[in-house]
This record gives sequence, structure tokens and C-alpha cells, in this order.
Amino acid sequence: MQASLKLNTLHHVGDVDQRIFGGFAEHIGRCIYEGIYDPESPLSNKEGFRIDVIDALKKLRMPIMRYPGGNFVSCYDWKEGIGPRSKRPAHPDFAWKSIEPNTFGTDEFMQWCNLAQTQPMMAINLGTKGAEEAAALLEYCNMPAGTYWADKRAENGHKQPYGVKLWCLGNEMDGPWQAGHVPAEEYARRADQAGKIMRGLDDTIELVACGSSGRGMATYLAYDRITLEYCWDSVTYVSAHRYSQNHRNDTAWFLAEGVEIDRVIEDYAGLFTYVRGLKRSEKKVYLSFDEWNVWYKNHEADGKWTKAPHLLEEVYNLEDALVCAQYLNSFIRRADVVKVACIAQIVNVIAPLLTSSDGLLVQSSFYPFQLMAEHCSGRSLAPILTCPTYTAGERGETPLVDVSATLNESGDLAVFLVNRSQSESITLEVSFQDASITCISGIDILSGNDPKAANTWENPNQLMPRAGVAHLTDGKAVVELPALSFTALRGSITLK
Ligand code: AHR
Repeated sequence: MQASLKLNTLHHVGDVDQRIFGGFAEHIGRCIYEGIYDPESPLSNKEGFRIDVIDALKKLRMPIMRYPGGNFVSCYDWKEGIGPRSKRPAHPDFAWKSIEPNTFGTDEFMQWCNLAQTQPMMAINLGTKGAEEAAALLEYCNMPAGTYWADKRAENGHKQPYGVKLWCLGNEMDGPWQAGHVPAEEYARRADQAGKIMRGLDDTIELVACGSSGRGMATYLAYDRITLEYCWDSVTYVSAHRYSQNHRNDTAWFLAEGVEIDRVIEDYAGLFTYVRGLKRSEKKVYLSFDEWNVWYKNHEADGKWTKAPHLLEEVYNLEDALVCAQYLNSFIRRADVVKVACIAQIVNVIAPLLTSSDGLLVQSSFYPFQLMAEHCSGRSLAPILTCPTYTAGERGETPLVDVSATLNESGDLAVFLVNRSQSESITLEVSFQDASITCISGIDILSGNDPKAANTWENPNQLMPRAGVAHLTDGKAVVELPALSFTALRGSITLK
């Protein structure tokens, strides 16, 4: 099969914000304990941080890390996670029916972020707490020593403020499962009050309001609209969450997930334009897609009141990795709307990495993320794609190829491609209307015959990218996209 991708250097939607390659670390299951922090493991440093996990995450180049939840945050008392460990109380965690030992808290997280070369994106508890607690946490994190909570931070060994720039005003407050869940009108007031005080203390911070926790919610977009109308002046982002599922075991349908992801982004773009118009405002609000992933195989969410239970330890296969690549493709294509995104989560819990006490397993979903985070740079080019389609159930006629492309000021081009076909390879020609492709600097391909193939502890390298080839003629590149594949093509261009 043949397909063509036409690009033009002037036809773009603006710069990609690298924060779309963010991560998410929640106090849930074995994400923090045994994932990030495991003083007993031979693979940890003297602070108890798993060095193999940090090294693997560095390859994902995550500029931001959302913390400490998730559902966990809506019952969390951050004050119990600071100071001498011997004085920190253990508590039952409502969200995941687990025991929270509080031996890892705000200071450990900041220290870990430093090592992992990422920036904190902190969430505040707007479930069981409110503006006062949020302001205290902001003071603890961002204010110079000389006031009560900032002095506490200094006493705990951290004189310099952490300068956290990005703050989430609660988590999934539209969900009945959420501690302190309230209707939009009430959440909007809570969020606005907390946000006003936080920005009053530090006007360099940016705030993310909770949006709907998914498109399936009855209050989808209405919750967001009410919140945004009320909080318009205080927030810069609204959050969206999505977890893709293949319960019906229909690979063709599942691989059309990109269509649905695009739809969610489109919905929010419309909402932001609408509220902006309503407010007669010059301000722009963007999407923080701060939880996304494939998640449907493991729903074990009951920790049975133990510490670090095995919860949501999803195993990722090839088709899952191809869906993950489509999330990132959608974020890049809509770089004008999506400025922040976080894969949920980073280790053990619905994550690209799994740990044992003395080993690390890299899952399939790691590789598209790694290649895209490394090579995505500059503007997001608007792709003009001509390719065959297929019928993906009620998702309708869907292009066999999903694509995004970026170009930076040095002329470095990156094209990210998913071939959704399960049986056919596709020969794709990439060309520019106003430029020539002058070299191909690399091609990596993740592919396989079996959509259900996955890396396992016994066979950890079954799914790994391999080098591909492309041919360059007359300033055009021709690349072969195998069936069921993700391809990251890099090259350079010169203007005609
Ligand atoms: O990521 C797992 C959970 O999914 C998060 O805690 C919650 O925000 C979402 O429902």
C-alpha cells in the first residue's frame, strides 16, 4: 500500500511545549514505595531512591512530574509527610485502601525530582482540605525562609525555596469516587478561593483546574464549563484525563483510539474559545492532559490495608504501545491547545516500568515515548496525509496511518508514524512543498506480528525498537512502515 505525507514549513500550529512529555507519580500501589523509593533494594542509593528507575526515566526526558495524586491527594495531609521520619504518622489511605507510611513526602519528592532531572507539578487536596492548607503548602514550597511554614522547610534541611511553578487545584473532583467530590459550582468556588490565595502569595505560579475525569462522565464538559467560567481569571489550564480500553478485544477498533483522543482535544478547544468569548477576554486557557494511558487489564484497586500493595500493575503489549504513540501524536498535532500532559503513571502502576526488588522491566509503551520525547523539537507541522482507510467499527473510516511532525529552527525534522494495519506494510513518501529533505539521520521502528506480544521478566527484550531504512530521492524520503508499527523518522531540510 502507498501513502503520502506533504508538509510545508509555514503550515504549522506553533511550538510544541515539551511539557507534553510529563509524568505522574502517585502514592498508590508500588509507585512510590518499591518503585521510586525502596531503601531495602540493592538498586537504591543511600537516600533510598531507586537509581535504575531514575536512569530509565531520564531517558524519557520528562520535564514535569505530577505528584502526589490522583485520587490519593484528595485525602492527603502533606504535613504528615515532612520532618523527621520517626515522627511521621502512618495513615489508612481512603482512595486505595492501603497504608500510607508517610516515609516519602514533599521534601523527598523534591530531592528525587532533582535527581531525575524533572520539575514538580504539585496537586493540592481540595477534597478534605481547602485554601488554608493549600496556602500553607505553597508557603512551604515557594516562600523564602522567615515565615512559619517556610521556616519549617529550612528546619527540615531545605533553606532554599523549591519554586514549584505548576499546581493542580485538586483531582477529578467531578467523580463520585473522589474524597470530597462536589458539584461543579462548589468545586469552582473551592478552586478559585485556593487559587487566588496561592497566586496572591506567588504570582509566578500557574494553576490547573480540574476538568472532567473522562468523556464518559454525564457531566463531561458541563463540569469544565462551570468551573472555567468561575475560575477564568485564576487558572491557565483545565485538566483532561483519558484511559484507553480494549475490553472487547478488537484490535482494529482499539487502534483507532487516536480519533477519540483528537475528539477530546477538539471538545476542549471549543470550550476554551466559548468561555473566552463569553468573557470578552484576551486571555488564553490551555489543556493539561495530565492523566493518559492504556488501562483496562488490571483493576485491582483494593490494597487490603497493606503498604505498597500490587495495584493496577498493567502489562503493556504492542497494540497498547501503538495507542500510547497516538496520544503523543495527538498532543503534538494540537500543540496549540495541549501545553501539558502526563503519562499515568511512571512506575509499577499503569506504567512503562515495572520493578522487582532487584530488577527493572521496560514495557513496550516506554519506547514510543522515549523516541518522541528525544526527537520532538520546535514547531508542530500540519500534516497533509493521503493514505488508505479502514473501518474501525463504529469509529468509522479511519486512516491507516496516524502521524505528527515537528521542525526546529536548525532544520531538524522529526516524523512520528503509526501504521494501524495488522497485515499490510505501507510505503510512505514524505515531502515538503517549500523545502527539500537533505538527509535522513535516523529511523527507529517498533513493530511485531502479534498485537498482544509483551515484554516479560522471562523475555524482557521481545519488543524493542530496531533501526529502519529510508530512501532519499529528489528531496523526498520514502520509508516502509511495517504492519502494526510505530516509526520515528529524523532528518534535515533546506528551504527551496
Ligand atoms: O491513575 C490512577 C487513578 O486514575 C488516579 O488516581 C485518578 O486520578 C484516576 O481516576
